[in-house]
Amino acid sequence: MRKVRVSLSGHSYEIRIGSGLLAQTGQWLKELGFGGKLVIITDSTVRGLYGGMLKQSLINDGFKVAVLVVPEGEEQKSLETAGRLYNELTDCYAERTTPILALGGGVIGDLAGFVAATYMRGVPLIQIPTTLLAQGDSSIGGKVAVNHGRLKNKVGAFCHPGLTISDIDTLKTLSPRELSDGLAEIIKHGLILDGDFFSYLEGNLDKIKSLDDRVLESVVSRSAGIKAGVVEKDELDLGARNILNCGHTVGHAIEAVSELKVWHGEAVAMGMLAEARISNKLGIFDGGDLLRLRSVIERAGLPTKIPNLDVEKMVQAMKHDKKILQGRVRFILPKSIGNVSITDEVSPSLIEEALAEENEET
Ligand SMILES: NC(=O)c1ccc[n+]([C@@H]2O[C@H](COP(=O)([O-])OP(=O)(O)OC[C@H]3O[C@@H](n4cnc5c(N)ncnc54)[C@H](O)[C@@H]3O)[C@@H](O)[C@H]2O)c1
Repeated sequence: MRKVRVSLSGHSYEIRIGSGLLAQTGQWLKELGFGGKLVIITDSTVRGLYGGMLKQSLINDGFKVAVLVVPEGEEQKSLETAGRLYNELTDCYAERTTPILALGGGVIGDLAGFVAATYMRGVPLIQIPTTLLAQGDSSIGGKVAVNHGRLKNKVGAFCHPGLTISDIDTLKTLSPRELSDGLAEIIKHGLILDGDFFSYLEGNLDKIKSLDDRVLESVVSRSAGIKAGVVEKDELDLGARNILNCGHTVGHAIEAVSELKVWHGEAVAMGMLAEARISNKLGIFDGGDLLRLRSVIERAGLPTKIPNLDVEKMVQAMKHDKKILQGRVRFILPKSIGNVSITDEVSPSLIEEALAEENEET
């Protein structure tokens, strides 16, 4: 097992990463001082795969366990579902000290985290991420939210867990597309901050895809460590965390214009390539590095070309992005593998040119 410590001003906690960890949850919760009742929030798919086993192991450790299940899918990140969960928490007599265990992917992490942040003005949260995206990225950083109307993550809070348990065995039931999708943010962490990690990914993609335990443990812990380091510098997302948005300026536009047919990680992968191309055109990012990035994304099983989307609509979508600053689109551009710079000095014509070149149509 590996451990990543997240040191925050108010409180610090550990991320534990390894194989066979779900069964140790009860013991660790007791060490943190919990006893009695606890609530697992999960989705219908993950409940079937891991919910029963986790519940039984916690009962064996002496806990009283309630399991609240929501259907799987992004639509559940809503105030309506949060409202239903508040009712169910009340029905099972959850108290201010009753921990919520968020067992699932990023949707459950965000939704159950939001519920934990708001129910009775906050109850303890334990994150148990089960997708590669959630283990390597979304469960770290304390951002929890639900969507509102058509606006993603519009209503949210900061809520850091008391402990995060990333059991890599759970990754073995993901579909190949889900595994690849999770790799995008992990590749991004190498691209923005850690050239050695990027090289490690280049050398180990086949082992990741064949679910090698040792490599998965290493990939998740290094990715989590990179994100934790950024979060520690900027707990409230006021500046330094911006670099995590590399690939997201274009990526969010791709998600919006494709009407979410393109998944988040896939959109970030194409976004990184488009932004790397902009950087290359500006003479900042070397052509050889651009090729390395394209090759790693392709070998990760991620798309390397934007699926024939309207360039003008993508540019329009960027103008609605949260990264917009006084009317100018802000980009986090790679300078080399492991290094980025932030700029809002990219001309509209250059953005359009790069998007057209990265589009499948051309
Ligand atoms: N809070 C953050 O900082 C942050 C960062 C990035 C993304 N996110 C959010 O994360 C969400 C996406 O997360 P996701 O990609 O994990 O999606 P998800 O939670 O919907 O999981 C994807 C699918 O995999 C299934 N699943 C989960 N674990 C599984 C397992 N071990 N085996 C088999 N199937 C499993 C789920 O039931 C679901 O159908 C989005 O809502 C996004 O906004 C949050």
